[in-house]
Amino acid sequence: MADLHRSTKNRKGFYVKMKFFRTKNGKPENPFFVRYFKWILWFSLSFYFFAMFLNNHEPGTSSLKTTMINHSHCALSESVLREPKDVHGLLNDLKVYVYELPSKYNSDWLSNERCSNHLFASEVAIHRALLKNDVRTFDPSEADFFFVPVYVSCNFSTVNGFPAIGHSRALLSSAVELISSELPFWKRSNGSDHVFVASHDYGACFHAMEDRAIADGIPEFMKNSIILQTFGVKYRHTCQNAENIVIPPYISPKAVQSTLTKSPIDGRRDIFAFFRGKMEVHPKNVSGRFYSKRVRTEIHRKYGNDRRFYLKRHRFAGYQSEIVRSVFCLCPLGWAPWSPRLVESVALGCVPVIIADGIRLPFESTVSWSDISLTVREKDVAKLGGMLDYVAATNLSAIQRNLWDRKLQRALLFHDDVETGDATWEVLVALSTKLSRSHRRSRFPANE
Ligand SMILES: *[C@@H]1O[C@H](CO)[C@@H](O)[C@H](O)[C@H]1NC(C)=O
Ligand SMILES: *[C@@H]1O[C@H](CO)[C@@H](O)[C@H](O)[C@H]1NC(C)=O
Ligand SMILES: *[C@@H]1O[C@H](CO)[C@@H](O)[C@H](O)[C@H]1NC(C)=O
Ligand SMILES: *[C@@H]1O[C@H](CO)[C@@H](O)[C@H](O)[C@H]1NC(C)=O
Ligand SMILES: *[C@@H]1O[C@H](CO)[C@@H](O)[C@H](O)[C@H]1NC(C)=O
Repeated sequence: MADLHRSTKNRKGFYVKMKFFRTKNGKPENPFFVRYFKWILWFSLSFYFFAMFLNNHEPGTSSLKTTMINHSHCALSESVLREPKDVHGLLNDLKVYVYELPSKYNSDWLSNERCSNHLFASEVAIHRALLKNDVRTFDPSEADFFFVPVYVSCNFSTVNGFPAIGHSRALLSSAVELISSELPFWKRSNGSDHVFVASHDYGACFHAMEDRAIADGIPEFMKNSIILQTFGVKYRHTCQNAENIVIPPYISPKAVQSTLTKSPIDGRRDIFAFFRGKMEVHPKNVSGRFYSKRVRTEIHRKYGNDRRFYLKRHRFAGYQSEIVRSVFCLCPLGWAPWSPRLVESVALGCVPVIIADGIRLPFESTVSWSDISLTVREKDVAKLGGMLDYVAATNLSAIQRNLWDRKLQRALLFHDDVETGDATWEVLVALSTKLSRSHRRSRFPANE
């Protein structure tokens, strides 16, 4: 949102006007406005409450204090939408065949429990959800799409605990060799109706550093396929140079629910702006690149001593309890533009402040990101404080109200069983718009 910058300017204008407004004998001018102000306020509030009532008939969501939100309304367990009458009609009768690969490609990795819970675990979650869902077909000849379940993020480095993804290309390539030698479907379409998950920093480029990722590119054999990836930018980029769907990073719905259950009942948010994560004071020059393009360093430098900012550089397992106490949650880029903080903020009712130029966000047709988040340009990060103050004084409550729409929270979380409107469901909806790739459908008109 380029206008944030403009708004800070407007803000000056606003203050000037206010001063002007109050000068003469200290009495405010424009008595009409002042006299009728409480009526206007009364009317707006009544209208708002009435609208809320009609909308979801949920008492209490309209807490007046902008920084207060009643969490009990978003308990995920009670949040299953009523099934639309014709779920399959909505998905255009989509059918997905899930390859059954030897366990070394997927389930073996699950012996490490972390494998199904860390931020790249959508590869596991989507697979699990598809196995149990009605779109799954056991008959590959009637499938529109073919899901290739290979878990590449589960090889955790013993040194730093991060996933080692060096083996990804080889593992995927051997899986593709296997399916193309045993069944005819890969060769039939040259992979174009096959679906992979690449939930890494730079998607199917399988490297965390952008320059290396670009140099390596997407493996040749995956270039025709559909890639479900957390990485996405609005400009041309080698690592999204294949048909793709931007998906949210994996955040465990159970963890979110447990945080919400444990959070204070009154939903008070006593932290103004929150960030916990790597923030290097002197970022290293890694072949000409600096972590977070030095944005996080700048945040630390500028706001490290600002009491409104709660900035922490060390890991803390209970950080979700801090998000649920915060009004604004900073989501600056790391090596890649996307961040799990985006999902956690939305799920825990903290307004995400996205600082990652050009980022393409997940499920943009369902989640209206501009209504629930703020975007700050990387170069404007030093003005962050003023921008957040401005929003807190103007439209914060509107953003928080939008943010508390359960539909959005559901769309960003992967459940073990597909729930209507959850993240896997959104993937299926996105796939159902790519049915021109389906062999079954393209064959149809030619049928004698
Ligand atoms: C896991 O990663 C390590 C380090 O990158 C690598 O040496 C090892 O071969 C990988 N394991 C498998 C099973 O691919
Ligand atoms: C299949 O797709 C790959 C990757 O785009 C391409 O290099 C190859 O030429 C294609 N093969 C055929 C037979 O179309
Ligand atoms: C929050 O909502 C619950 C359930 O609707 C209600 O029982 C509770 O009193 C509410 N708390 C506040 C502080 O509004
Ligand atoms: C970072 O390192 C590269 C060489 O790897 C060098 O060309 C560049 O000038 C360095 N940049 C800074 C800001 O130090
Ligand atoms: C809130 O205000 C900011 C700053 O003016 C603006 O960028 C943003 O789009 C507004 N958001 C909503 C939902 O009104």
